[in-house]
Amino acid sequence: MKEFERIIGYSSEKKELEQVADCLRNSEVYENLGIKAPNGLLLYGEPGVGKTLMSQCLIEASGLKTYICRKNKPNGEFVNEITKTFEEAEKNAPCIVFLDDMDKFANGDANHRDAEEYVTVQSCIDKVKGKGVFVLATANSINCLPRSLLRAGRFDRRILVKAPKGADALEIISHYLEGKNLDEDVDRKYIARLVEGNSCAFLENIISEAGLYAGFDRKEKISMSHFMRAYLRNVYGEAYDGDDDFDDDDDFYSMAETTQNSFVRIAYHEAGHAVVSEVLDPGSVMLVSVSGESHGREKGGFTKYSNVNGIPGFDYALNRVVGGLGGMAAIEQKFGINRGGASADLNDVFHTLCNLITEECILGFHLHDSPYRNSESLDSRIELATAAEVEKYYRKAKQILANNSEFLDKIAESLLRKRILTAPEIEAIRKECTVVECRL
Ligand SMILES: Nc1ncnc2c1ncn2[C@@H]1O[C@H](COP(=O)(O)OP(=O)(O)OP(=O)(O)O)[C@@H](O)[C@H]1O
Ligand SMILES: [Mg+2]
Repeated sequence: MKEFERIIGYSSEKKELEQVADCLRNSEVYENLGIKAPNGLLLYGEPGVGKTLMSQCLIEASGLKTYICRKNKPNGEFVNEITKTFEEAEKNAPCIVFLDDMDKFANGDANHRDAEEYVTVQSCIDKVKGKGVFVLATANSINCLPRSLLRAGRFDRRILVKAPKGADALEIISHYLEGKNLDEDVDRKYIARLVEGNSCAFLENIISEAGLYAGFDRKEKISMSHFMRAYLRNVYGEAYDGDDDFDDDDDFYSMAETTQNSFVRIAYHEAGHAVVSEVLDPGSVMLVSVSGESHGREKGGFTKYSNVNGIPGFDYALNRVVGGLGGMAAIEQKFGINRGGASADLNDVFHTLCNLITEECILGFHLHDSPYRNSESLDSRIELATAAEVEKYYRKAKQILANNSEFLDKIAESLLRKRILTAPEIEAIRKECTVVECRL
């Protein structure tokens, strides 16, 4: 259906939406089969992934009059508005009631699952049931919604809309790049890999920011460096200043010694993540960057990965664990001590390993965190087992770095000079070194 052409990628979600739109537009076809159209559809997922856009397309494709409800009034008044909207819809059926951002209808207080707004929506849905009113809703999170509201019969269909990946991310990037004046060095595939997992709104924003950088530089074309600056600006937020790279080595040596030292540590930390990940899974590091602590501001580093080799989820998770410990391991290898700065890495690693132990049972069924468990000692056994696994993988990370110290030094040195290394640059450095492969 042409109404769905505005949605780029998401072919399976589009197909499902087209089917619902067809049920609404050609209800007689389904009635002849003795089938009733679904009562409602809920689209849920992170902000900016296109739920409202998909809803608008569905509304257009259905050809039905639509009554829109968004929270724009104080609670009491809003409850009245919900009731009135459904009353109006019932009088004018067949039609659609569109509840956009339904999870924002009630305040986020402790008891909001029982909030009056949701109770009202639920009773209104029940009141119009079978009367030709289709209820379409969007939400970021369904966890805060009452379970009774979500059951079949109210929202018969639920679609989880995820941030675009792979071919979808590439299609969306290519669409947004249409009509832009681009330099030859712009690599769409690489940009798509870099931004995958982020919302469409994020992708749109990166592209327009890259254009702003190019305009401000008075360039005729948007180049890859503008995209990198726009991307890093979004990663580092306010703290990122695209101008403070060390094109000139004198800049680096003119820094205060303490700042210089901390910058070297950040470079080795990020290089550790990158090298361990590249040894385990060549080509998986999309970007490694350090923004240092220049100009008296704490910035830090950042490494971005992608599952380019299509490694199965379980193995990929373990690679991420060892790669995540690579930052700390590199500091220990290079400077002999670990002076912190890796608590975020450790939190991620503990979280991943704890899930693998309690849900995937990598250490056996005795640590499975089942809802039927009745053992108070399980938590402490899980904690001990997780810590022991972290130790084991930390030793692995150290071993990989000890075997690949040339690769580590070269990545760290390049980072100190350039601040950003892209996947092709990492690949080039890799080729200059003797890399000792390792599999977990
Ligand atoms: N698949 C897509 N194709 C084209 N444009 C898209 C797509 N997904 C999102 N967009 C664009 O991204 C922006 C955000 O989309 P939208 O408002 O629909 O997101 P949302 O999921 O409803 O976000 P929120 O949860 O914040 O309400 C819009 O400009 C929209 O047109
Ligand atoms: Mg929305």
